[in-house]
Amino acid sequence: MSRSLRGILSLDDFEKAARSYLPRPVFAYVSGAVEDNASFNDNRAALDEWGFVPRVLVDVSKRSTAASILGREWPVPFGIAPMGISALSAYRGDLVLARAARKAGIPMIMSGSSLIRLEEVARENPDAWFQAYLPGDIARIAPLVDRVAAAGFATLLVTVDTAVLSNRENNVRAGFSTPLRPSLALAWDGITHPRWLFGNALRTVMNHGMPHFENSFAERGAPILSRNVERDFTQRDHLNWTHLAGIRGRWKGKLLLKGLISPDDVRIAREHGVDGIIASNHGGRQLDGTVSPLRVLPDLLAEARGMPVMVDGGIRRGTDVLKALALGAKFVWVGRPFNYAAAIAGEAGVAHAIAILSGEVHRNMALLGVTSLADLEPKHLVKIGGNHGG
Ligand code: FNR
Repeated sequence: MSRSLRGILSLDDFEKAARSYLPRPVFAYVSGAVEDNASFNDNRAALDEWGFVPRVLVDVSKRSTAASILGREWPVPFGIAPMGISALSAYRGDLVLARAARKAGIPMIMSGSSLIRLEEVARENPDAWFQAYLPGDIARIAPLVDRVAAAGFATLLVTVDTAVLSNRENNVRAGFSTPLRPSLALAWDGITHPRWLFGNALRTVMNHGMPHFENSFAERGAPILSRNVERDFTQRDHLNWTHLAGIRGRWKGKLLLKGLISPDDVRIAREHGVDGIIASNHGGRQLDGTVSPLRVLPDLLAEARGMPVMVDGGIRRGTDVLKALALGAKFVWVGRPFNYAAAIAGEAGVAHAIAILSGEVHRNMALLGVTSLADLEPKHLVKIGGNHGG
């Protein structure tokens, strides 16, 4: 095992290592949430308030961590959530995540706010899913949707909790923006993090030129570093169900929505022929105070009527995965730890993170007395502090 991974025993350990590896603005972008971190904190609180009721004397010797989603079986019930600008934390970050996911056989969602062309990621991992942020303008949506299809992606996920940019004060305080603005402070942040500067930033520019936002639209967008170029976020606030109906008509593959919290929206999504949803508050990065998806999961499941409901936000342990599944989630997604893992140790780091979480799920299933994830039920949990089983 590489030196950078020695001593990394849990997903949270990656954050400590990444904090010293990454320049302050980049670490702030990845780790940060929005305003007062209410949603970010609720993601953990909603997991921590459940405790387990394990069963004993069950032969768990032949247990399986396999989980099915959208007609396909995966060896574990979790995948890599979409994260923008992953190539800023890790050299060729999206490709690193895609490759590690492919080798481990887990799903990975590529972000549309990325600096590597989606075609390259599709070649690296034909099973990857593509996540889009879309303007409310079908004339600009259609060419991107067609480009994603032409690249070979089978699953398109539209993130719908970003009608406008959120209030990331922490990013402002840390000097992060997109594009990054050249300044003495930024140069200093780079110089004082030489492993990142030489191992990622300069190496990227030397080998591939200045990175640009490649996948926000059908054509290339803004560079990641610029004194005055602005990114195009126009008409995101126009996006509505009419556009979604247009996308459903055009996209022949699986169509998912991410960022739903309201049961009413789950019903409307189902009525529009959506294949599944990721209930999410975006890792606490959009509307601050939005509850953890776990708090509304029973109501979402009632409206989903069999349409798969997945969740993300704050999942850091095998026990968290099992809790979410016991509450009815079909699958879970993990964000930040995989970003940190790619940053500090590239593909080996992501493989290590996947192995840690897989190992925890496998071990904890045995300790909980279940042999199949399908056996997980609310009765395996009890609310701590309350006394009402789930
Ligand atoms: C994100 N997230 C995100 N979501 C999305 O749909 N498109 C995106 O481009 C991004 N970008 C992004 C960047 C970074 C650095 C982070 C941390 C997150 C949200 C992400 O997919 C997921 O919802 C959360 O990260 C899940 O929470 P945890 O696991 O990070 O706590």
